Amino acid sequence: MNLVEFESVTKRYRLGEVEVTALDSVDFAVRKGDFVAITGPSGSGKTTMLNLVGCLDSPTSGEIRISGQPVSGLEDRALDQLRSRSFGIIFQNFNLVPVLTALENVMLPLYLHRQPRAEMRRRAAAALASVGLTRFADFRPDQLSGGQRQRVAVARALVTEPKLILADEPTASLDTASALSLVELMKQLNTERQVTFVFSTHDQRLLQHVSRVVELRDGQLSSGKAPRAEEAGATIPLTSDSEVA
Ligand SMILES: Nc1ncnc2c1ncn2[C@@H]1O[C@H](COP(=O)(O)OP(=O)(O)OP(=O)(O)O)[C@@H](O)[C@H]1O
Ligand SMILES: [Mg+2]
Repeated sequence: MNLVEFESVTKRYRLGEVEVTALDSVDFAVRKGDFVAITGPSGSGKTTMLNLVGCLDSPTSGEIRISGQPVSGLEDRALDQLRSRSFGIIFQNFNLVPVLTALENVMLPLYLHRQPRAEMRRRAAAALASVGLTRFADFRPDQLSGGQRQRVAVARALVTEPKLILADEPTASLDTASALSLVELMKQLNTERQVTFVFSTHDQRLLQHVSRVVELRDGQLSSGKAPRAEEAGATIPLTSDSEVA
C-alpha cells in the first residue's frame, strides 16, 4: 500500500481579488522506503505540497490518502493523531526550543505519545545517538553549530518512529560540509532503517544523491525526472522513477 496518495490535488489561495493556484491537479504517491525529492523554482508549490502531505493544510479539491485512509472528513482529533503517528517534520530553520537541551528538544514529540519520562529519555537518547550527537545531549541549541542543530531536528523527527519524515529545504541554511553530512545521514536512515523521506530542495548537492526526483513548475508535477548526471556532477548513478502515482 502507498503511504501517501494524491489524486488530482489542487490547492488555491485567495489573496483579496487575486487567486493563486499553488498546486494544479497533482497526482503523486509515496511508497514505504522511498527517498523522494520535490524540486522546482521558488513559488512552484513545494512547501504547499509538503504541507498537504503532512496534513498541515487541506486541499481545495482532490483527494489525499495516508496509508489508504482519506484525510478529508477526519475530525480534528483524528487528524492530530494521524499526524503525530505518521509524520516527523524537519523545518528549514530547525525550530528548536532555545531554552531546552538537545535531549529535551528530541523528547518533545513524545509528550503527545504519553509515555513514562524514563522511557521518553531512553528513546530520545537513542535518537540522538543515531545522529551522532550523544556527546551533545545536554547542550542548548545556541551552543551547537548549524549542522548539529539540524541533526537534533532530524533526531526529533525520528524519535516517534514515524512512517514518513518530511523536510522542507533541510540543507538551505547549511554549509556544504554540513549539508553533505546531513544528506548522508538521511540516506543511511533510509537504507538501514527503511525510513521514508519526502523533502523539498533545489540544492544540487542534495539532488545528486536522490534516486527519485519530482519537479514542480507553476504547481504542476512532472514525475520521474532525475537531474542529468553531468548537470548535478553526480558520482552516484541516478535512477529515474517513472512509476509515480
Ligand atoms: N498562505 C498563502 N496565501 C496565499 N498564497 C500563498 C500562500 N502560501 C503560498 N502561496 C502561494 O502559492 C505559491 C506556491 O508557494 P510555495 O510556498 O508552495 O512555493 P515554494 O515552491 O515552496 O517556493 P520557495 O522555493 O520560495 O520556498 C506561490 O505563488 C505563493 O505565493
Ligand atoms: Mg518553500
